[in-house]
Amino acid sequence: MSISFEGKVAIVTGAGGGLGRCHALELAKRGARVVVNDLGGAMDGSGGNSAASEAVVEEIRAAGGEAIANGGSVSDEQGVQSMVQAAMDQWGRIDILINNAGILRDRSFAKMDLADFRAVLEVHLMGAVMATKAVWPIMREQGYGRIIMTTSPSGLFGNFGQTNYGAAKLGMVGFMNTLKIEGAKNNIHTNAIAPVAMTRMTEGLIPEEAGKQMGPELITPGVVYLCSEEAPNGVILQAAGGKFSAAYIVENEGVSLGQDVTVEDVAAHWDQITDLTGVKPRNMLQLGG
Ligand code: NAI
Repeated sequence: MSISFEGKVAIVTGAGGGLGRCHALELAKRGARVVVNDLGGAMDGSGGNSAASEAVVEEIRAAGGEAIANGGSVSDEQGVQSMVQAAMDQWGRIDILINNAGILRDRSFAKMDLADFRAVLEVHLMGAVMATKAVWPIMREQGYGRIIMTTSPSGLFGNFGQTNYGAAKLGMVGFMNTLKIEGAKNNIHTNAIAPVAMTRMTEGLIPEEAGKQMGPELITPGVVYLCSEEAPNGVILQAAGGKFSAAYIVENEGVSLGQDVTVEDVAAHWDQITDLTGVKPRNMLQLGG
């Protein structure tokens, strides 16, 4: 069974390099027309020009695909609107949005200033919100849409020096959890990818030898599946070096302590309250295709 994107239009943010570039190339190879967005700045979000997005567009065209470049920032509301408008003017529909653009401003929380916290939220979380907001009415009208949130193990499980990044990344999962419900009746499916891959973002973090087995192109098959017509809705897919698994927000059985519950009752039943036996995911609408 081969999965085709003929006739589909995709926007991939932050697609001038790393993971986004791989997603854009694969979608284009399978027939999608692609908007390649990238601010083209440094890893902390400073600077920028459209050279990175234009280079990927050239790669796509050289391989016989169709693409347009956009050098705007996902945190510029007007810019995002005009990017979406440009895609509509050119191709008349938008089927896929991959929210992938991201920056890092790592520091321990004690040393982090609020400007760096806000900047990271603004790109990852608000960037995803603004791009999604711009395509949402179009997807509703079409009765079709596939949206990807690029989350991170740092958001799901925590990582030293990444309070800003982790908050933004888990915020994207919270955003997805309601979009999956609100979009379902219009066949808009929203899923999340939690990747680990060797890119400029992880240079120096993943050891060089291990990094050779962890190319960004090994994440793309999972992401592209989540962009397909048979995509599930509301799944957090983890991907690293060719391994794929699902992460869940689960709850346990818990214990009912009655109407006269006291603080001491909670303390006395702590083991039962937190017991992981029989945990199950909650409110997952649709786990399969
Ligand atoms: P990358 O740095 O190569 O890619 C991020 C891209 O986003 C860059 O090309 C950058 O220019 C672009 N960008 C930054 N701010 C932007 C803005 N305001 N508007 C438009 N574009 C902007 O790094 P990588 O690894 O490919 O990251 C892609 C996504 O995957 C990010 O959201 C990152 O947080 C996430 N991620 C990556 C992991 C990894 O192991 N590489 C782990 C977990 C998450």
